[in-house]
Amino acid sequence: MSKLWQKTTNVDTLVENFTVGHDRELDRQMAAFDVLGSLAHTTMLQSIGLMDAADLALVQRELKVIYADIQNGNFTIEEGVEDVHSQVEMLLTQRIGDAGKKIHSGRSRNDQVLVDLKLFFRSQLQQIVEDTGKLFRQLIDLSEQHKDVLLPGYTHLQVAMPSSFGLWFGAYAEGLVDDLEMVLAAWKITNKNPLGSAAGYGSSFPLNRTLTTQLLGFESLNHNVVYAQMGRGKTERVIAQALSSIAATLAKMAIDQCLYLSQNFAFVSYPENLTTGSSIMPHKKNPDVWEIMRGKCNRMQALPNDIAMMTTNLPSGYHRELQLLKEVLFPAFTDLIDCLHMANFMLQNISVNKNILDDPKYAYLFSVEEVNKAVLNGTPFRDAYKQIGLEIEQGNFNPDKTVNHTHEGSIGNLNNAEITAAMEKVVQSFDFKKVEQAIKELVGKSESR
Ligand code: ARG
Repeated sequence: MSKLWQKTTNVDTLVENFTVGHDRELDRQMAAFDVLGSLAHTTMLQSIGLMDAADLALVQRELKVIYADIQNGNFTIEEGVEDVHSQVEMLLTQRIGDAGKKIHSGRSRNDQVLVDLKLFFRSQLQQIVEDTGKLFRQLIDLSEQHKDVLLPGYTHLQVAMPSSFGLWFGAYAEGLVDDLEMVLAAWKITNKNPLGSAAGYGSSFPLNRTLTTQLLGFESLNHNVVYAQMGRGKTERVIAQALSSIAATLAKMAIDQCLYLSQNFAFVSYPENLTTGSSIMPHKKNPDVWEIMRGKCNRMQALPNDIAMMTTNLPSGYHRELQLLKEVLFPAFTDLIDCLHMANFMLQNISVNKNILDDPKYAYLFSVEEVNKAVLNGTPFRDAYKQIGLEIEQGNFNPDKTVNHTHEGSIGNLNNAEITAAMEKVVQSFDFKKVEQAIKELVGKSESR
């Protein structure tokens, strides 16, 4: 089949297959956004006199039909069609003729894919923020629910000091707040309009880039057209860093879960139907969910490096291998969203062991508590330390197993309200409403502008 760019020569099939690669499948995820970009671009073309009102109405009516088809799952990129940009333009031209051939004035696939990606990334980041928020609330609920249940704290994986389920769950909740600060930075870098940079050097048409920026609900634009093109790769790398930050939190939670589920710890348990069995050992209840999560999240942490390696020595300007970034980043969104859902689901079903510290091997957890009590009764710290140390050495250590921690963020004063306020603050910094409103207007009534 012919290409958008084909004049006379047919490209070699091997070359075509090698260069198109997985684009047909991956581009489907950007299809709705490709149409949104074209709605904004054509509205702008009409405003600067490059498309008349009749053509605009025809083009936009058909673009909206395609948009609805995409939303309903009735859209494929046909065999022999290079990418989503070609597919949409081809459909338009087949259905409405010459008007369809006018939409690409002042645009290149280079800035078209840039804007599609940014719109797609925005929607994925929004999903991630929402799902992270749900997991956060689950963790805070568990932290509050089990705030009085003590847990051994470890340093060097050796029994150290008393901790609690309140602290443990709350720690991961607070971790997610900082992770969303990273996502917010990625969102801000993503939420700038590259459309109008064309092949990467602008256009001799008097494009109105401010108008497409508003129509697409972007906060601002990538002003410099050369920089707009450099955003390909950079945006992906920054997003990968943000995803990787959440992934690191989930991976750490996953290894804690595997450890705490082990019989040697037995701090937490799950209903049998959430664990998996062994084909040979009839007693097994394995934490496979957390193990798969650990693996996926560890792999995700390699992503910023993957992307850096793929883009590190590229000069400014467009290069075809930028296309490959889709192959690594798109599946990462799906994986991370899956992991957020599964973590939430598992935590809804977790049970905690309420009597862990009754086991004598945890008595030494209270050594510092005992030292501190002596200090509060007037003994200098170093003397108290020595006295308790001797009791331990001589086997006379009989601690009182109550803890009284009162400072901010400690067992007795978790600061969950403060942590929740910090979460709300970061979530409110994402201007999702503005974006949703812009998209609604674009799909709803842009031809009547
Ligand atoms: N599939 C291509 C990509 O993702 C679309 C842009 C093609 N541009 C080009 N100059 N060949 O980069």
